[in-house]
Amino acid sequence: MNHNKKDVHDFWNQASCGEELYLSDTDKAGYTAQASARYDLEPYILDFSRFEDVRELNVLEIGVGLGADHQQFAEAGADLWGIDLTERAIEHTRKRLSAFGLTSNLEVGDAENLDFPDESFDRVYSWGVLHHSPDTPKAIAEVWRVLKPGGGAKIMIYHKWSMVGYMLWVRYALLGLRPWLSLTDIYAHYLESPGTKAYSVAEARRLFSAFSEVQIRTVLTHGDLLESGAGQRHQGPVLAFARTIWPRRIIRQFLPNQGLFMLIDARK
Ligand SMILES: C[S@@+](CC[C@H](N)C(=O)[O-])C[C@H]1O[C@@H](n2cnc3c(N)ncnc32)[C@H](O)[C@@H]1O
Repeated sequence: MNHNKKDVHDFWNQASCGEELYLSDTDKAGYTAQASARYDLEPYILDFSRFEDVRELNVLEIGVGLGADHQQFAEAGADLWGIDLTERAIEHTRKRLSAFGLTSNLEVGDAENLDFPDESFDRVYSWGVLHHSPDTPKAIAEVWRVLKPGGGAKIMIYHKWSMVGYMLWVRYALLGLRPWLSLTDIYAHYLESPGTKAYSVAEARRLFSAFSEVQIRTVLTHGDLLESGAGQRHQGPVLAFARTIWPRRIIRQFLPNQGLFMLIDARK
């Protein structure tokens, strides 16, 4: 594992995504509560992911994290594979599925070098993962490679022009007296794992140009709207205060396209 990828691994192996904020226990009740907090905060996941459509399809999830979405695929009756760069995420997801009597083929693995033959899957799903990997274009090429012709990818990666990005820029560039820092610098250093990237819609279209059909939309997230604990790295009194005065209605009305999440539906 190269140096950059090891940093990504070490960041997410300390705590899987949402673990500190939403997982109280690693038992059935704890995982159920985490999933319910997840889908309350991010209802668009259920809409976008269409878990119910995967019965008897070969599905690969890349970057399973705590495994809530993986559980949905398993419950829907997919023939299921899941990988994550970290041992911790694989352990959580195994524990979670076994608590519910569900099964999947789970292994530690790398999105940039998938250990599957060409044309293995009807669907590849990855929520909030590929922008963390150092070579995102390589990971997307791997998604294309392992999909069967006509197979579908459902991928969420970060959108550059987002309220979350602007807030972080004010906090770390402007108030940090380094206004020359770009949004790219800010995402790479202050959002989550080191080297995290975010893309414009045009850049995402280029990344997915090998696919035959590509639909992209952005969504305002609970982070953009300060509706939740904003993330494992961001806590404190200033943020707590901002949450009380945040103009959510104005953002929803006038800046609906400035959300952090970019939802990409692509067909091979
Ligand atoms: C923000 S979390 C998202 C997890 C989960 N999909 C979710 O929505 O909660 C990012 C996950 O991507 C994983 N990850 C990062 N780079 C990866 C890579 N190259 N291959 C596989 N997984 C990777 C991390 O280990 C981490 O579990």
